[in-house]
Amino acid sequence: MTRITVLGSLNADTILKMPHLPLPGETIALTAKKTAGGGKGANQAIAAARAGAATTFIGQVGADSAGTLLTDALQAAQVNLDHVTTTTAAATGQAYIMLDDAGQNSILIDGGANQTLTVADVTAAKPAITSADFLVAQFETPLAVTLAAFQIAKAAGVTTILNPAPAKATLPPKLLALTDLIVPNETEASILTQQTVIPTQLSTLKAAAAKLQAQGVANVVITLGETGVFYDQHGLSGQIPAFKVKAVDTTAAGDTFIGALTAVLAKDLHNLPAALTFASRASALAVQTLGAQPSIPTRQMIDQARF
Ligand code: RIB
Ligand code: NA
Repeated sequence: MTRITVLGSLNADTILKMPHLPLPGETIALTAKKTAGGGKGANQAIAAARAGAATTFIGQVGADSAGTLLTDALQAAQVNLDHVTTTTAAATGQAYIMLDDAGQNSILIDGGANQTLTVADVTAAKPAITSADFLVAQFETPLAVTLAAFQIAKAAGVTTILNPAPAKATLPPKLLALTDLIVPNETEASILTQQTVIPTQLSTLKAAAAKLQAQGVANVVITLGETGVFYDQHGLSGQIPAFKVKAVDTTAAGDTFIGALTAVLAKDLHNLPAALTFASRASALAVQTLGAQPSIPTRQMIDQARF
């Protein structure tokens, strides 16, 4: 069984449904409101566990009911919580997700306890990192903490996967040098490389991958929504088309993709193309259900889905 440690955020998501996203100065009545478990880190951990991996989470919640709901959800998915800490200095992270009738979303984040996670917290979780096959992280927890975790991981021969979301234009160069596989979407890839990335223009995808590889990441995957997935391993590239489905809510589609991908990847990443197809099946299921964590499929659902 693949062992995955995910470092990242937990957010209580409030989903606000509306006919269209508000323009500046506009007032709109909601058509529905729902709460669900979320946060990129927690979503990715649940996706990995539901896809069959032995998964451990490193993160932080506040001493409040949202924190309890989120840790209960991880526990229900059989994610190990030994390294989830509770702080009294901040409230559990919150996300406000505006969702329109076309399934498009805009998200507002109140980072809270995710932002008070420290290097000391990951140092205390060292055994959970060094004993894993993979370490996965995103950008909803402090960069310095991710950097420290990746240093611990690489020193122990653990394969590191970075989901650079939400997008950031500048990163410590050291972080990319410590990353084995980076998985941005097209927007994040463009912001990260400061180059135009167009899903249907292969040359732009190859150029973005080459720029990231020059900074020390050998394996690059760029998720392209309806266009599918592009990958480049040491200069060998390919594309995998997306499964055609009707999207209800794309929230956590990327998180589901990364968790499911990691759950079936070989540690040396030699089976990346096959793992990407499996991950695409998982995210095609996730977009068909409202809410982040409620939409993340199990291994059985992924294996049995017909598109
Ligand atoms: O990637 C989706 C997630 O981003 C949501 O669950 C929300 O919490 C935000 O962190
Ligand atoms: Na969803």
